[in-house]
Amino acid sequence: MTCIFETDIKEYELIKRGKVRDLYDVEGKILIVATDRISAFDRVLKTCIPGKGEVLTEISLFWFKNTEDIIENHVESHNLKDYPENLRKYEYLVKRSMLVKKAEVIPFEFIVRGYLAGSLYKRYIEGKTTLPEGLSEFDRLPQPMFTPTTKAEKGHDEPVTYEELKKKLGDKLAAYLRDISIRLYKRGEEIAAKKGITILDTKFEFGKIGEKVILIDEVLTPDSSRYRIVENGKVLKLDKQILRDYLKKREEIEGKMPDEIPEDVVREIQDAYTKIRDLLLG
Ligand SMILES: Nc1ncnc2c1ncn2[C@@H]1O[C@H](COP(=O)(O)OP(=O)(O)O)[C@@H](O)[C@H]1O
Ligand SMILES: [Mg+2]
Repeated sequence: MTCIFETDIKEYELIKRGKVRDLYDVEGKILIVATDRISAFDRVLKTCIPGKGEVLTEISLFWFKNTEDIIENHVESHNLKDYPENLRKYEYLVKRSMLVKKAEVIPFEFIVRGYLAGSLYKRYIEGKTTLPEGLSEFDRLPQPMFTPTTKAEKGHDEPVTYEELKKKLGDKLAAYLRDISIRLYKRGEEIAAKKGITILDTKFEFGKIGEKVILIDEVLTPDSSRYRIVENGKVLKLDKQILRDYLKKREEIEGKMPDEIPEDVVREIQDAYTKIRDLLLG
C-alpha cells in the first residue's frame, strides 16, 4: 500500500497543512485530505502509517451520517464525481478526502469523557476534580463529563473551565455546544457499545457559518477518541494510545522521544484502526 505523507495539489491553494490533514480551498469550499501522517504529544512523526487517512475518513463519514439528526455537519460530498473535474486525476483522493463547507472554527476542543482516563485520571489522582472518591482508572463516570480545552495553533491545549468558555462564547452558545457535545458522545457510545466497543472519551470541533453552528473536522475517530474492546478476556486499546504508550516507553529508556517508530508498531496501529473501522461499519 502506498503511503500518502503529504499531498501536492497544484490546482488549488493549500490553506493549511494540519498535523494530519491537508486543506485546500476549492471554489470556496474546503477539500480535506486525510494523509497517513500521525502525531502525538503535539508533534508529527516522520513515520507514515499506510492507509490511515482512508480509515479515518471512512470512520468520520460513518459518524457524520449517524449524528446528522443531532447537528448539521460540514460534509458536502466524498464522491469524486461531485468534485471539480481537475481533481479527479488524483486517485488517492477517492477514500481519503471530503469536500466540506468552509466554517469559521470555534477555537476550542470540545472534549467529552464517559470514563476515567487520560488527563482526567491524572487530575483525579492529584485530587483536582469533584468526582466521588474510590474510582479506578477506566471506570465509567456517573455521567459524561464535559472538559473543553483551548485549541492552540502551536503547542499544547490547555483546559478551560465552563465559566471561561461562557465568557468567551457567550452563555447561550457555550451551553448549546456543551449539550450537543454530550449528546454526540452518548450517541457514539451507544452505537459503539452495540458492536462491542467502548468509547472512553472523544473530542469534537465546531465551526460557524454566519450564525449557524455546525460539526466540523473529524468525528469519533481513533485519532480523536479512546477506543477499547475486550477480546479473550483482555482489554485492547484500539486508538492512538498505542503510539503514546510506545513513545513514553522509549522516552523512559532513552531520555527523549523518537520521531520515528518501527514497523511492528506501525502494523499495530494499522491493525487497531482497521479493526475499529471493520467493527463499526461491518
Ligand atoms: N469545515 C471546516 N472549516 C474550516 N476549518 C476546518 C473545517 N474542518 C476542519 N477544519 C480545521 O482543519 C484542520 C484539520 O487538520 P488537522 O490535521 O486535524 O489539524 P490540526 O493540526 O490543527 O489538528 C483543523 O485545524 C480543523 O480545525
Ligand atoms: Mg486535528
